[in-house]
Formats: sequence, structure tokens, C-alpha cells
Amino acid sequence: MNMPSLDKARIRTSNKSRIIRDDYIVPDSVKDIGKGKKYYIATYGCQMNVHDSENIAAIMEDMGYHSTGVMEDADVIILNTCAIRENAHNKVIGKLGRIKHLKESKVDDIITIFCGCMAQEEGISHELKEKYGWVDIIMGTHNIHKLPIYMDNIIKTNKQDIEVFSIEGDVIECIPVKRDSKYKAWVNIMYGCDKFCTYCIVPYTRGKQRSRKHEDIIEEVEKLVKDGYKEVTLLGQNVNAYGKDLDDDYNMADLLRDVAETNIPRVRFVTSHPWDFTIDMIKVIAEYDNIMPYIHLPIQSGSSKILKKMNRRYTKEEYIKLFNTIKEYIPGVSISTDIIVGFPNETDEDFQETLDVVNLLKFDLAYTFIYSPREGTPASRMKDSISDDAKKERLQVLNKLINKYAYENNLKYKDKVVDVLIEGESDKNNKYMGYTDTMKLVNVSCSSDYVGKIVKVKIKDVKTWSMDGEIVDDRE
Ligand code: 5AD
Ligand code: SF4
Repeated sequence: MNMPSLDKARIRTSNKSRIIRDDYIVPDSVKDIGKGKKYYIATYGCQMNVHDSENIAAIMEDMGYHSTGVMEDADVIILNTCAIRENAHNKVIGKLGRIKHLKESKVDDIITIFCGCMAQEEGISHELKEKYGWVDIIMGTHNIHKLPIYMDNIIKTNKQDIEVFSIEGDVIECIPVKRDSKYKAWVNIMYGCDKFCTYCIVPYTRGKQRSRKHEDIIEEVEKLVKDGYKEVTLLGQNVNAYGKDLDDDYNMADLLRDVAETNIPRVRFVTSHPWDFTIDMIKVIAEYDNIMPYIHLPIQSGSSKILKKMNRRYTKEEYIKLFNTIKEYIPGVSISTDIIVGFPNETDEDFQETLDVVNLLKFDLAYTFIYSPREGTPASRMKDSISDDAKKERLQVLNKLINKYAYENNLKYKDKVVDVLIEGESDKNNKYMGYTDTMKLVNVSCSSDYVGKIVKVKIKDVKTWSMDGEIVDDRE
């Protein structure tokens, strides 16, 4: 048993991270344990977790299991959790209640696996140990590849196994993947984060910033191109810092160029920190048609005073300058952002500055959140004088403004012809859905033959969150 420790998770040394290529073992004793059995994965949180679930799925299938989307049918239930805000936490605790009920009502025992960022939290792992002794395996973000070993243990001992490591972390290159899509793929380029924004738990749950070798990334993308993939998203908590922890002089601009040169039809990246966004990156994005003109650039607040308390390392003015440079170099680029309201002691004036920046920059889209204190982070120890009601009200005011600009930005697309990668059926009747290269959601009336293709679509109608269009030319 290994319990997480916040004090250890905080540590950063100058040690280089190891690349591990041969540590994934499926013991003979578990090679076929899943035959005729099913696993169910509930994934919470960011794209990093979505991709981790693709790894977990492949590992389960290596043990003979098949996937099911119905929790009640599953022999193994996996919760891949998120710790970023309190509400993600509450959802998972609610789900645990339903699993317990299910476990009690079933004749055959269900194996329950709890993983992801919540498992890395000291308080949660202790709670699971003390109050949820029936949860079988608790594993952290650093050791997903050890799952077959933990399965072997649980089957032999039937005792709760907690294996969470609060370490800086390695780069594990040997984990299999079962991708959810045949057309769009997530590709990790780096793990962890060393920015330590004062509100954020990620540096504690995901370890230190560590980049994959560019040769490994390019090899993965080249294989995806061969397999007919149309889009890759380069993933990391702070992708612009890619390579800073390696010895070679190779950075994110170099990586973007080399990925674009593989001729993958579309490439994008999430998520960016303004601090590391260089002019070289902007120039490369502008140079290559297959690098999508879409950038997610979290601002978090429009008040330089609050940004300083958040340890974001830029001022409002510096963010605005970067935003304008991106717009200047990359025609038609769409820029989305993240904004937190109600950071401790955010005054009405601070909040007004956030509204002023939104009015100035007119983001294409923004993900907005009420600040949620996370145990162990510096912000959680700050005294706060702002009421919950005031925070909720700020969120509403902000969302109204964000929606206004989302709609206004979409209006620019009316009657234009755009490229859309058709992904699958839409919730709307008789329609298929896909995204433009600027990440605008488009519903298109077409047949299933178009799924997985990039097609020319004329936009007929626009709304705040989506657009409707018709295919004008089906040549790829
Ligand atoms: N409370 C609210 N929002 C948060 N985020 C990160 N930590 C917190 C927190 N403690 C938001 C940030 C980040 C996004 C992924 O989640 O805006 O960019
Ligand atoms: Fe969290 Fe800041 Fe790192 Fe993003 S850059 S993951 S907000 S600490």
C-alpha cells in the first residue's frame, strides 16, 4: 500500500525524468481473466483524463475484457476522476454511492477501480481507505501501466489495494492505447506542470513538467497519418513549455513544425499558458495551413492584481499584447479562454476589469468557473471576504457577456464556406456534426458516408454554441 502525500507532491528537484519503455507487464495469471466479462469507464475532467481512459481501456482489453457503456452490465467499474474543482469531486462521490448499491445487489462481485487526480489527493485516499473499504483498487496518475499487476493482486487477495505515488514522475512510453475515434487522436507531448498557479491542484496531482522525446511524438503522429487519422491534438497541461526540461535545443515551435510536416490534415494543441507562448510558435502556426487557427489561451482574470495573487506571471496588459499579436499574425484565428471568478478577495473593481477585458478582446468562447478552494494549494489558505452569492452573480454576468461575443463571432461565419471534419451523428434530428478548423461546432444535413471526412460546408444559420450548414463540395 502506498498513500499519497501532499508534502512529497510539492517537491521539485533538478533531476531529469526517466523514459520508461519496458515496464508494462500483463502477468499470465490475468491474461484471460476478462474473457466474457465487461468493463465500464466513467471519465471526469480534462482531455488528459479522456486520453488516460483510452490507455486504461487498452489495458483492460489486454486482459480479455470488453467495453460496455452501461455501468449496470459491467464486471469492472473504473472511475477516472478529476480534482480541479469541488463539483467534479461531488459527482464522483455520488457515483460511488450508486456502485455500492449495485455491488450489494449483484451475485457476482464487481471490481471497482478508483483512479485519476482525486486518487492523488491525500484526504480522498484516506477517506477511501477508511469509509470505502469495498473500493478494490485505488491507483494514481503515475502508475496506470501497473493495472494488470493490481488486478492480479486483488484477485489473489481480495484486499483493498491503494497504490498512489506522490512523485515527480517519469515518461512512460509503453502504455497501450485504444482510441475512441478513428479520425481524431489525442497525443501527449508532455506531462505535469511546474507553474504552481496558487489556486490549482494539477502540479500536485500530475507531477513535474516532463516532455516526451520529439522522436517518439513524431513516430506516433506518423503512424496516425498512416492509419488515416485526420486530426491530432497535442496534449499537455502547459504545452508551450514543451522541451524546456530536455537538454536538446528543441522547443514547441520546432515540434509544431515537425508535426505539421507529417502532413496530418489537422493539428491543434491544448492547453497554453501565456507565459511560454513565443513569437516563433505564432509564426509557425501562421505558416502551416494544417495547424488549426485555434488557440485556447486561459487568461483567468482581467485584474493584474488578482493575476499576481494567482501567480500567473503576466499582467493584463501583457496578455492583451500577446492576444493582439496572435490575431495580427494568424488571420481568422479563433481564441478561447478560461476565466475564474471569485478568487479570494476579488473586488467589484477587479471583476469589472475582467468584464472590460472580455469587452475588449471579444473571445470566441470562454470556460468560466467559480473559484473552488483545493486543499494544499496556497490560495486555499487565503482568507476570503466575498460571499458565495456575489460569486454566483458574477458568474452569471460574465456568462451573459461571453455568450454575446460567442454569438457575434459566429455571425461572421454566416453564408461563408468552411472546412468541417464530420465526426458522427448529431443530437439534432437527421444531422451529422463536426468542427471547423477554428473549433466551431457545425450541424450538417448529410449521409453517414461523410463521417471521417473533411468537407466544404456553407453556413446557413448561426447560434451561440453551434451553426447549421450544408455540404457544397465533398472533395477532400
Ligand atoms: N477553481 C476554479 N477553477 C479552477 N481552474 C483550475 N483550478 C481551479 C480552481 N481551484 C480552472 C482554470 C483552468 C481550468 C482548467 O480550470 O481556469 O484553466
Ligand atoms: Fe494549473 Fe496553472 Fe499548471 Fe494550468 S498552468 S495546470 S492552471 S498550475
